[in-house]
Amino acid sequence: MNIFSWNNLDYPLVLCPPMDGITDRAFREVIANEGGLPLTYTEFVNVKSIIYQNPKALKDLEFTSNCQTIVQLFGSEPDDFYEATRIVVRMGYRAIDINMGCPAHNVVDKGGGCALMNDTEKAYRIVQSTIKAANDELRQIEPNTNQEIEVSCKMRLGVVNDTDVFTHGIKMIEAGAKAIAIHGRTLKQMYTGFANWDRIGEFVKLVRDSYKFSFDRVKIFGSGDVKTLYQAFEKFIKYKVDGVMIGRGSFGNPKVFSKKSIDKLKDFVRKYIDTPYESIPWTEIEEELGEYKYGFKELKNYAIKHAELCFKYKGEHGIIQMRKHLGWYFSGLPHAKELRSLLVRVNSLDEIKQILNEYETKYELQG
Ligand SMILES: Cc1cc2nc3c(=O)[nH]c(=O)nc-3n(C[C@H](O)[C@H](O)[C@H](O)COP(=O)(O)O)c2cc1C
Repeated sequence: MNIFSWNNLDYPLVLCPPMDGITDRAFREVIANEGGLPLTYTEFVNVKSIIYQNPKALKDLEFTSNCQTIVQLFGSEPDDFYEATRIVVRMGYRAIDINMGCPAHNVVDKGGGCALMNDTEKAYRIVQSTIKAANDELRQIEPNTNQEIEVSCKMRLGVVNDTDVFTHGIKMIEAGAKAIAIHGRTLKQMYTGFANWDRIGEFVKLVRDSYKFSFDRVKIFGSGDVKTLYQAFEKFIKYKVDGVMIGRGSFGNPKVFSKKSIDKLKDFVRKYIDTPYESIPWTEIEEELGEYKYGFKELKNYAIKHAELCFKYKGEHGIIQMRKHLGWYFSGLPHAKELRSLLVRVNSLDEIKQILNEYETKYELQG
């Protein structure tokens, strides 16, 4: 059986990026169910927690049942990545992503996440160590295989300087990374301001035109502030990335990953990728790929299905974690404030269903 390879996917890709506190198994299964994603990422998982078999880390490592899962690891030491990678490959993972973008103090202060962009030499060793571990372990499991487990990296534009990625990203490709995803902000920016897609586009040019790394060798993905498939279309055309990630834009909005819409997006990208900007029928494409308008019943079905999965995998704690998703699902509705004030306090599945049913009857909602 062929193992996962970035070369075997249908480009251009729309992806949901790894998000701590969001992309747990329940969320991944809800979005994968839409059929448009080729894979899902776990939340980031600390390599040390894996090595010490921390129960929360093991929970985070559960596979998405209905979709290929890539595990994202964070840490700061090549030896830890070596050990943790062998463990996750033993568990069944066949694709690994390394976090070089997290700006949180508790991660960066220990030399992990985006701090690795300040130490490219160490990050290089981490990528190599991860690749070696993955394939050492694969050969333990399947001694005769000639396949390779691939490693990718997700980073920001830089720490303070938004051009760090030009050197750091290239080094990670030289270390063997098969895909580079870039969030178009610096660590200093955290989540403020806007993602700078011009820099992401400049990186694509550098990789393809100056360094001549082929598409087969490495894929480049952009991330930041994309909320609709129409906006994703614009990024593909303008910046020639191989994939666009939709993170926060997918909160309460699983339809953004629907197969039908993503297939349509792919067709448009293939058709217009070489068309002059001013000759592209932007309005027509926006009508096809713009924001999806949900009816209440549809949102209710998504919310209940999602909550059931949260409960199935995490019990009551899953319902507490579901509260924020409930807020996102129903944010655009009339009287949303009233509904959300009730949903942010729920403790059980029954309570969620009761509140939604009462709201539906009270406002005689259709659709
Ligand atoms: C709540 C939250 C958690 C995140 N956790 C991670 C993470 O674990 N690993 C990672 O590489 N990026 C993480 N990110 C960054 C996202 O993957 C993404 O690059 C960023 O949110 C920009 O994209 P967006 O504007 O589409 O959300 C996180 C972002 C958010 C909002």
